Amino acid sequence: MKIPTPLLEVKNLSVQFQLPNQAIEAVKSIDFQVNRGEIVGIVGESGSGKSVTALAITRLLAKNSYISGSIFFRDNADKYIDLAQIKESKMRSYRGNSISMIFQDHSTSLNPVFKCGHQVVEVIHLHQQLNRAAAKKLTLQWFEKAKLEDPERIFASYPHQISGGQKQRVMIAMAMCCQPDLLIADEPTTSLDVTVQKVILQLIKDLCQASNTAVLFISHDLDVVAEITDQVLVMQHGKIVEKGSIKSIFQHPQHPYTKGLLACKPTIHRNFYRLPTLENLEQVIIKKNIHHSQTTISVHPPLLSVNALFTTFYQKSALGMIKKRFKQSKMSVLK
Ligand SMILES: Nc1ncnc2c1ncn2[C@@H]1O[C@H](COP(=O)(O)OP(=O)(O)OP(=O)(O)O)[C@@H](O)[C@H]1O
Ligand SMILES: [Mg+2]
Repeated sequence: MKIPTPLLEVKNLSVQFQLPNQAIEAVKSIDFQVNRGEIVGIVGESGSGKSVTALAITRLLAKNSYISGSIFFRDNADKYIDLAQIKESKMRSYRGNSISMIFQDHSTSLNPVFKCGHQVVEVIHLHQQLNRAAAKKLTLQWFEKAKLEDPERIFASYPHQISGGQKQRVMIAMAMCCQPDLLIADEPTTSLDVTVQKVILQLIKDLCQASNTAVLFISHDLDVVAEITDQVLVMQHGKIVEKGSIKSIFQHPQHPYTKGLLACKPTIHRNFYRLPTLENLEQVIIKKNIHHSQTTISVHPPLLSVNALFTTFYQKSALGMIKKRFKQSKMSVLK
């Protein structure tokens, strides 16, 4: 039986930033693979190197960065190329075509001075050699696949004229319109409210499954990652500290940091009266005998105290009437 060769193979990848007075080692010798059609998640706290990893693969890092190691990618012609070594002109032919990206911040992907439709037409025109009329037709089809209501109106709108959820759908259409082999989604739902978040996650999953697109899905939220991914990498301080199937990571976490992340996470089976604090986490760690040699947790009196907080989201109908109310459970935070 032929062993499948991975679509993406990151080997011994390190990224360093040179600042005037110091060097920052953002990613430290990481290794991982993504197979064709597979969804791999990256989780980790802020600053752990998730976005820098994504930017290294797409070669969109700042000029003061230095990459070492290899980023092997199997291209359309089934050639294994090292993205870390190829020329920028060659990289441009992959970017947006066989490797596409969705970022949290719409402003990095959607240009405010061009209409949404025009921006997707440009991508199709550039990579698929279609004339503008055919590219427009395809764009409208992708807007429909991204479940945008009234695709013609969205096509003719500037980004500031549509909602955050609609912008995210335009970006998904733009990322998927060339049916990429690999989609890199960096916190794609973080800026959306909870009602839209779930729908967008399902949309990404469905569209990628339909075109056998592999996904590298980045989030700081374990629940979001669990919802969409097969395999997960846990990053801390620029290193991958743990990797495995989502089931094994949830059921048998090995690294103290992963255990801490899971211990902190409220679940439906553990109905917290109060959200866990670092103090609670320390107690959980002691109770469960979780070793945390690298982590010392200090407990200070709180700066902000919130009690009995409710958040309510409203879903409105086309006429502006409230159709549905979503009330999140009562939370009582640090006292
Ligand atoms: N252009 C840059 N110049 C210098 N340092 C940088 C640059 N970009 C990122 N870094 C540093 O690299 C480290 C990793 O950053 P990265 O953006 O990958 O974090 P992250 O895991 O994506 O965090 P978040 O969850 O907040 O998005 C951080 O210490 C960050 O300050
Ligand atoms: Mg990031």
